[in-house]
Amino acid sequence: MIWRHRPDHASLNGLHGLLFMNATAEILFRPPAPAPRKKPLGFFGMLHTLRNNPIEIWTEDHFRKTVLIGSSAFGVRAVINDPAAVKRIFLDNAANYPKDELQLRVLRPGLGRGLLTAEGEDWRAMRRALAPLFTPRQVAAFAPAMDAAVCDCVENIRKKRDGRVLDMSQEMARLTLAALERTLFSTGLGRNADEFQRAVTAFLDTAGRLDPLDLLGLPDFLPRIGRMRGRKTIEWFAQTVRDIVETRRALIASGKPAPRDILSLLLEAQDPESGKGLSEEDLYANIITFINAGHETTANALTWTLYLLSQSPQWLERVETEAAEALANGAIETLADRMPVAKAVLEESMRLYPPAAILTRGVLKAEELAGVTVPPGAIVTVSPYVLHRHQTLWRDPDRFDPTRFLPENRESIDRFAYIPFGAGPRICIGMGFAMQEMSIALARLTSAFRFELQPGHTVKPMQRITLRPLGGMPMIVRHR
Ligand code: HEM
Repeated sequence: MIWRHRPDHASLNGLHGLLFMNATAEILFRPPAPAPRKKPLGFFGMLHTLRNNPIEIWTEDHFRKTVLIGSSAFGVRAVINDPAAVKRIFLDNAANYPKDELQLRVLRPGLGRGLLTAEGEDWRAMRRALAPLFTPRQVAAFAPAMDAAVCDCVENIRKKRDGRVLDMSQEMARLTLAALERTLFSTGLGRNADEFQRAVTAFLDTAGRLDPLDLLGLPDFLPRIGRMRGRKTIEWFAQTVRDIVETRRALIASGKPAPRDILSLLLEAQDPESGKGLSEEDLYANIITFINAGHETTANALTWTLYLLSQSPQWLERVETEAAEALANGAIETLADRMPVAKAVLEESMRLYPPAAILTRGVLKAEELAGVTVPPGAIVTVSPYVLHRHQTLWRDPDRFDPTRFLPENRESIDRFAYIPFGAGPRICIGMGFAMQEMSIALARLTSAFRFELQPGHTVKPMQRITLRPLGGMPMIVRHR
């Protein structure tokens, strides 16, 4: 095999991102990621890195070993990369691994006790009440609204000059917010969309940033500077949601027909066991949760996918051909089913850049995981980012290769080695929603445009709550 090395993708600022070509001119593309450390960070280095870009903490051992356990000022922490142990944590013995205090402390000030941050019986009742909003049938019913949001985005981009550089991470954030707006509150947010988007980004940036005081487990009464800055955004959100709900209640009270969107469904939602609806507090918490959990995650997955396709002409061509056929034949509700190649590309994109890069859980009772006993009070970390690039689980893990996810190969992937949406009872409730939205977006965007990374721009993944491209994703957008 003849290897060719393109320096513009390689070893930039400590990142590795390599492009090779073999004898059959097949491109072997290894997109940028921080090079794993040789040795673990010390205390202050760890604090600094966890605050600024947590995916830079991982060492070579994390990508080689199935379990690493250690104790420090942050308490006992185990990083788990063994699919059987992942299954135990998220499915078989999930009751022993509730969401840990640190994660709840970071998320609850902004999200309240919505589905993502509720625990125990509160969570169970809420999940039962909200499940009907996300059944495959209900999600398919949202397809036309999603498509309308995608078509608006395409039209807005088309109005711009051919060949103009656009930050595609911002465009995708606008798109996914518009899709949520049309499915959540079809009568509108009553706010300027850009203002709304800025608020979500600011929220995830400040409120969702790990604070050293949280990491050290210091009590809540000590003020967190970052979170204080986020408070204004949180209040803005609360007021926005209150206004939307009031407007909808007034519409329902007036006897006029209300749209069948998520807001109406939430107002009607009931726990089938107790017959109880959502309390006012639960209603707000879940609206804010859906916006925050569903917006940047989906936007980032799409942005990374556009970037990866821009580096891989073969896969781009396959997606374009598939999209043209899928859009021309059949209903928008079933479009995603007609796009197995796009699905494989999206899955590979979320393997390399999982929007939720770290999942953590507390430990109630001691248990053996992958041959090591985790004690009560420890925190177990399962990082989709590490798991998805683990050397024992994937062939050439850093390489972009959607073939892994084509229908004929998909079965051979261990269910608990690939978890971009989590697993078990707390699996992402919006998974089908996101996959459908991303398929529609990819079909329309690749049919309308070609995207090329702005020359000279260095791509670097940065983890906040989601895995974003640092400095956005500036791309030259050419009309097709
Ligand atoms: C590509 C897009 C998305 C990704 C990668 C993603 C990822 C995840 C992950 C990993 C979890 C599990 C967290 C854990 O176990 O600690 C989760 C939970 C959740 N997601 Fe998503 N998500 C996406 C889109 C969405 C969308 C579109 C919505 C809503 C419209 C949504 C709403 C939620 C909610 C409410 C939960 C909490 C579920 C529960 O605990 O019962 N997500 N998501």
